[in-house]
Amino acid sequence: MNDETGEWNNHVELGLWADIMLIAPCTANTLAKMASGMSDNLLLATFMSARCPVIFSPAMDLDMFEHLGVQENIKTLENQGHTYLEPASGSLASGLVGKGRMPEPEELFENISEILYSGKKWAGKKIVISAGPTHEAIDPVRFIGNYSSGKMGYSIATAFAEQGAQVHLISGPTALDTPKGVHIYPVKSAEEMHRLVIAQFADADVAVMTAAVADYRPKTSSNQKIKKEKTDRLHLELVKNPDILNSIGHSKKETQFVVGFALETENELDNAKGKLERKNANMIVLNSVHAANGVFGSDENKVSIVTKKEVFDIPQMKKSKLAFTLCDIIFEKYENHS
Ligand code: C5P
Repeated sequence: MNDETGEWNNHVELGLWADIMLIAPCTANTLAKMASGMSDNLLLATFMSARCPVIFSPAMDLDMFEHLGVQENIKTLENQGHTYLEPASGSLASGLVGKGRMPEPEELFENISEILYSGKKWAGKKIVISAGPTHEAIDPVRFIGNYSSGKMGYSIATAFAEQGAQVHLISGPTALDTPKGVHIYPVKSAEEMHRLVIAQFADADVAVMTAAVADYRPKTSSNQKIKKEKTDRLHLELVKNPDILNSIGHSKKETQFVVGFALETENELDNAKGKLERKNANMIVLNSVHAANGVFGSDENKVSIVTKKEVFDIPQMKKSKLAFTLCDIIFEKYENHS
């Protein structure tokens, strides 16, 4: 019974809900109870009802760890199909030095990712995605922006994450929920987006730049709200923003793969090919302005793929479905590039 709401909480709910269960640090006591099928606390009830993969990471003093009873329990749990993570060596709580420490959280995380994503095509790859519009400040309450909803970039982030990638989404202001399993970096301006994309791209495998970055920003932005009583005309001097796709296109290593987007209203194909060349991208996704309902804010999109070797069309479809199609196309081109 839940004390606050008075509602019944199913005692096996957590075990059925989880995608994966990690028990770390797993004490000698819990290990023994798990191996013998005891259920006298919530952790054990959850373990016994879990239908997902279970990883256990024993941590205790070195002599306890060597004890035959503990070693037998580890074998029993492994034989039951659970994944055993060996303890690390080092200083222990007793002051002794030896095997018995819980591995570092980063190592535990890597093991979880490996099990969750094994067999998925983008497992072990880092993808950087830019999405949404940018807001270029005029004063504390006004900005220059555009109509980009961020839907395409967020759908692509979802598709890559579901295919096992480690996704870093650098997003301008949008009204969208963060996709599950994606690292999000909310930004406002093109300059902020530029800094974060450069930092995340250094050790990334693929970058997909979907953001509708403002081409210009006000040269200066006022610290105080600009008062309309002061002047009848307001002149804003605009300066060019950094071209993020261009920066990473020209700094990429041979192994890295860079995808840009293009929206053209005339000479679409020639302009997209020019963009591929100028920005040194591996692939351009050309948005068709002829798609029904337009592009910005719409749930559907019609695109063509442009690489150095080929050009082909993808039929109009929902952005969520298109994201998975693009994810597959990028995989094939990424695997065979350079
Ligand atoms: O030059 P254009 O804006 O048409 O290029 C579009 C592509 O370049 C998109 O992939 C967009 O995300 C990227 N871009 C960028 N930084 C800019 C302008 C565009 O990354 N300042």
